Amino acid sequence: MLRRLAADDLAALAALERQAASPPRSRGMLAQTLADIDTRVVGIEARGRLVGHAIVARLPFEAELQALLVAPDHRRRGLAGELLGAVIEQARRWQSERLLLEVRAGNGGAIALYRRAGFTEDGRRRGYYPPREAGEGREDAVLMSLPLDRR
Ligand SMILES: CC(C)(COP(=O)(O)OP(=O)(O)OC[C@H]1O[C@@H](n2cnc3c(N)ncnc32)[C@H](O)[C@@H]1OP(=O)(O)O)[C@@H](O)C(=O)NCCC(=O)NCCS
Repeated sequence: MLRRLAADDLAALAALERQAASPPRSRGMLAQTLADIDTRVVGIEARGRLVGHAIVARLPFEAELQALLVAPDHRRRGLAGELLGAVIEQARRWQSERLLLEVRAGNGGAIALYRRAGFTEDGRRRGYYPPREAGEGREDAVLMSLPLDRR
């Protein structure tokens, strides 16, 4: 079940981040995100447990996808696709011109998901992300966007 998350969902959201994100967002940062009027957090539940979430922020002309995360034991079932659909709907309600995101160049799974949803690559930021593992180099960010028709 998809729904908008609110302050009450902070503990579940922080638990999902700790389980599935690297690095996880802090509880304080998540609390701020949930309270921000220009940000929406959408969650997806399975049997009463939060198993995925997406964060989208409203910018002056555009919207930005700031997080998309699905619990490892619930991946490849289409949940990220559903969350992304809800984020796109929200950005359309805001009348955003485009939905923007940045993703690690090595995150082939996420890039495939975004391409499938219609995003195209706008460019790269060289060495934007810190290394994922000790001994690895910094990683490029791929900048992607999806134009939204403003009906
Ligand atoms: C990326 C992520 C959100 C995908 O979640 P998901 O629920 O498994 O994705 P979906 O099941 O909706 O995938 C839809 C399509 O995206 C593509 N895709 C998703 N994950 C993929 C992977 N690991 N490898 C290749 N393609 C993948 C496929 O085309 C997939 O369709 P298919 O399963 O019919 O082949 C999830 O792996 C995750 O939380 N990763 C860690 C956090 C992260 O990297 N977030 C994105 C940061 S910008």
